[in-house]
Amino acid sequence: MSLLRHLSEITGRAFADLGLDASHGLVLPSQRPELSQFQCNGAMAAAKQAGKPPREIAEAVAEKLSSHPEIAMAEVAGPGFINISVTDEALAEWGNETASDPRLGHERAEEPLTVVVDYAGPNVAKAMHVGHLRATIIGDALARTFTFAGHKVIRDPHFGDWGFQMGLLIAAIREEQPDLPYFQPGAEVFPEESPVTLDDLQRIYPAAAERARHDEEFAEEARQATVKLQQGHPGYRALWRHMKTVSEESQRADFGALGVEFDLWYGESDVHDLIEPMVERLKEAGVVEESDGASIIRIEEEGDKREWPPLILESRTGGFLYSTTDLATIDFRVRELGADLMLYVVDRRQGDHFTQVFRAARKGGIAPPEVVMEHTWFGTMNGPDGKPFRTREGGVVRLGDVIQMVVDAARKRIEEANLAEEYPPEERERIAQLVGVAALKFGDLINNRTSDYVFDLERFSSFEGKTGPYLQYAAVRVKSILRKAEERSIEPGPLVPPTTDAERNLIIHLLQFPEVVERTMELRAPNHIAEYAFETAGAFNRFYDTCHILSEEDEARRAGWLSLARWALSTLELSLHLLGIEVPDRM
Ligand code: ARG
Repeated sequence: MSLLRHLSEITGRAFADLGLDASHGLVLPSQRPELSQFQCNGAMAAAKQAGKPPREIAEAVAEKLSSHPEIAMAEVAGPGFINISVTDEALAEWGNETASDPRLGHERAEEPLTVVVDYAGPNVAKAMHVGHLRATIIGDALARTFTFAGHKVIRDPHFGDWGFQMGLLIAAIREEQPDLPYFQPGAEVFPEESPVTLDDLQRIYPAAAERARHDEEFAEEARQATVKLQQGHPGYRALWRHMKTVSEESQRADFGALGVEFDLWYGESDVHDLIEPMVERLKEAGVVEESDGASIIRIEEEGDKREWPPLILESRTGGFLYSTTDLATIDFRVRELGADLMLYVVDRRQGDHFTQVFRAARKGGIAPPEVVMEHTWFGTMNGPDGKPFRTREGGVVRLGDVIQMVVDAARKRIEEANLAEEYPPEERERIAQLVGVAALKFGDLINNRTSDYVFDLERFSSFEGKTGPYLQYAAVRVKSILRKAEERSIEPGPLVPPTTDAERNLIIHLLQFPEVVERTMELRAPNHIAEYAFETAGAFNRFYDTCHILSEEDEARRAGWLSLARWALSTLELSLHLLGIEVPDRM
């Protein structure tokens, strides 16, 4: 139980005693900390229910609260706000309980859901761009938070390896190197070595995609190649496997550098065999129509304010597209994985795609009503010019290059700040990696998920301000205080009732961790944890400015402060961990 929930229960009971709904008793952190620690605004709504003036109800509730042993003060302000503060003894008690709880007061979900987080979404041959970067960072943070909360999380990148882009590549490679065995009729044995490198693919793909836009003959060849690949053409399949492998290798390396992991590594192609039976079922359900030689599902719904093109299940040429594999993937996730909730952490620009797919899934009975599918979209990461972040030459930025950039910036900053100077080179390098990744992730996650933001390397990598490196440094500083205490044989002990506001504020802040986790999950918004982590560092600094742990003479107080510092560190580290940010031991 968290303190806020406990206070809400007490206050709810006070409302119930007056014959009113206990739900009016919701207690929140105070908007005006100089007046009280907490507040309850329920009297206004309760007044409507009871047909009485809000102040009258607030007074009655406040009076009941005042007699509770944990409540130091309950007073009515304004039209009927109830300001509440708890006793210093209660703060210490709640602090002791929470600080010693490995979950820091958060209660595991009572009914764990199976949550599929679909994020990152890299493609064969296409360099990951900044959209994939945001998807990776946000998706990972959400997956971590749901996991921490006790849900069963399945992380799947939904690798793009089956649609038209594969046909484009095959057609282009065939034209460039027609003599390769993959293109010889009847060939069945193929080399183990890939005929193309990732660099080749990244050169070939954009050119082929561009060409298909105006060269109809080439586009048709690519469509045919897509169909043949999907139908099992041995040469195309063999070539496809090579392209997939070289792409995946590089992507896994990038994910490794970011500390991002997946439970499944499935791609669009993995559901290929599920498509036929699914299409059968959809036909039986009567939702499939023929249109111009293609199979489609109409997805308009009553009340639509715009036109919705149908979902194309099977193209005129007989190929399966992005939407079809997504539909079959939902089928798989519902039936095989038992998904209750599917979060698609994907760029906002795919909104229409997901509307089509989700509607078709409902209409065709692929997704039963109780299963939640959600496009957890995000805004764009822009460059300083306010346009989507690109390389200086105007090209797509590779994820690997972005990582390189932030790590280089971190190395420079660490040097400038004279940090880690005497440490062995490997450790310094590891610190630079951690700091660079923290700069990148925090720079993203501190923003509202749905907002656009500007990638500002200078600001993100600074050790000052709302940044990842600042928070890492703050945590490292607490670690060093704890180490010093240990060297001086200062033992931590139970928290003592606080006597200064700096202590009270820190304790009250740390006690709110459970609510922050819940809010982050409910809103799919890691910026709440990011903001909270930043405030944790500030609250700790104010506490440490006032309470000089190492030189305090009173033994009990010193021991209690030390525990408070440890608790602050655990909270900060766990918050950062949920954002995918690791803290070095020293800096
Ligand atoms: N590969 C896709 C892209 O790069 C993103 C995949 C998103 N996930 C999904 N289930 N469609 O655009």
